[in-house]
Amino acid sequence: MSEVRESDRRLRYAPVPPEMTVALGPDELTGFRTAITRLKDDHEGHPLGDPATLTAIEIAAGHLPTRLLARLIEFRTVSGAGALLIKGLPVDEPLPATPTYDVGSLPWPPLAVSTIAQVGVMSVLGEVLSYADEKNGDLVQDVYPVRGAESRQENTGSELLELHVEDGFHPFRPHYLSLYCLRDDHARTATTVTASIGDAVRRLPKQWIEVLRQPLFRIRYSSSFVGDGPARYTARLPVLTGPDHDPDLCVDFHAMEGVDERSRLALAELSGAMRAALVGVVLTPGDMLVVDNRIAVHGRTGFRPRYDGRDRWLRRCFAVSDLRPSRGVRDKDGRVCGSIL
Ligand SMILES: [Fe+2]
Repeated sequence: MSEVRESDRRLRYAPVPPEMTVALGPDELTGFRTAITRLKDDHEGHPLGDPATLTAIEIAAGHLPTRLLARLIEFRTVSGAGALLIKGLPVDEPLPATPTYDVGSLPWPPLAVSTIAQVGVMSVLGEVLSYADEKNGDLVQDVYPVRGAESRQENTGSELLELHVEDGFHPFRPHYLSLYCLRDDHARTATTVTASIGDAVRRLPKQWIEVLRQPLFRIRYSSSFVGDGPARYTARLPVLTGPDHDPDLCVDFHAMEGVDERSRLALAELSGAMRAALVGVVLTPGDMLVVDNRIAVHGRTGFRPRYDGRDRWLRRCFAVSDLRPSRGVRDKDGRVCGSIL
C-alpha cells in the first residue's frame, strides 16, 4: 500500500457555504419522528434489506420537512455543487461506545432511528445499494478508526484520506453516498472535504481536459473489497465523460494512475484544480453530508484517534438512480451486489 506523500498532507478548503446547507430545527422533525415510531411498531424485527421495510422507509421519508424534500429533489435533478449538507437529523440515544477495533457488522437494531433517517433521505435520491465485498454487504455501514489501520486509504484509516470518488473501480459504483455523523473526533479536526468537477474543470486548460477524456487511466481495486493480496486494476478508462458543460467524473487520486507521462501530468493538473475547489466541514452529530458521486470527489483531513470508545463515528449509505443495470450481480429484490472478483 503506497503512502500519501508528506507534501500532499495539507488540504486547503473553504467552509461549506450556506447555499449547500439545510439546517433543520427540532420542531421541523415532529412529523418524521411520528412516522418513525409507527414504522418501528409495524416493522420491528424485520431486516433492513427486506423490500417491505425499504418501501415503508421510503413512505416515511415523505414526512421529512417539506423544505428538505424540496432540496433533495432539486439535488437529485441538478446537483450543481455536488454535495448537500443536512444538519439537525436525529441520532439514537444513548449511543453505544465507538468500537476500538474492526468488529464487522455492529449489533444495531435494523430500524435504529438514525438508520431510518439515513435510508429515508437516500430513498428520495435513489435506490439504496451495497456491496457483498465490503462491510458484510450492510446497507448502512459503520465507519470508525481502527487501531493499526491509521494509514490505510479506506474507511478504517485516520490519516489524510486522499480525494476520490467512491468505489470508482466498481462497475456499479454508487451515484450518491451519504456520511451521517454520530460522534465527532475529540479535537474536532477531522474535516470532510468535497469538490465538484464543474468547479474544477473551469480551472483546467483545454489540453488537459482532452487527455482526461481518453481511456489512459486505471484504478486499483480497494483493499476493503479484495484484501491485501496482489494489486488488481480496472481496464483502462477515461477520467471525464459526457458533455463539456457538465461532465461526469471517475477519479481516485490515491488508487488511479495514468498509463503514460502525459496522462500522469493531466491527473496531477486535475488534482490541483480539484484541491483548489474544495469545501469542507467538521461533521457533528446529526449532520449528514450527501455527495453526488458522479461529479464530485470527497476526502478527509487526518485526525488522532484515542481508541477510548469516544472516537469519531460515521454511518455510510450508498444509492443508485437505477437498480436495473446491476440486476445481474444481485439476487432478485436484493440490494447487495455480489463479489467483484
Ligand atoms: Fe470514500
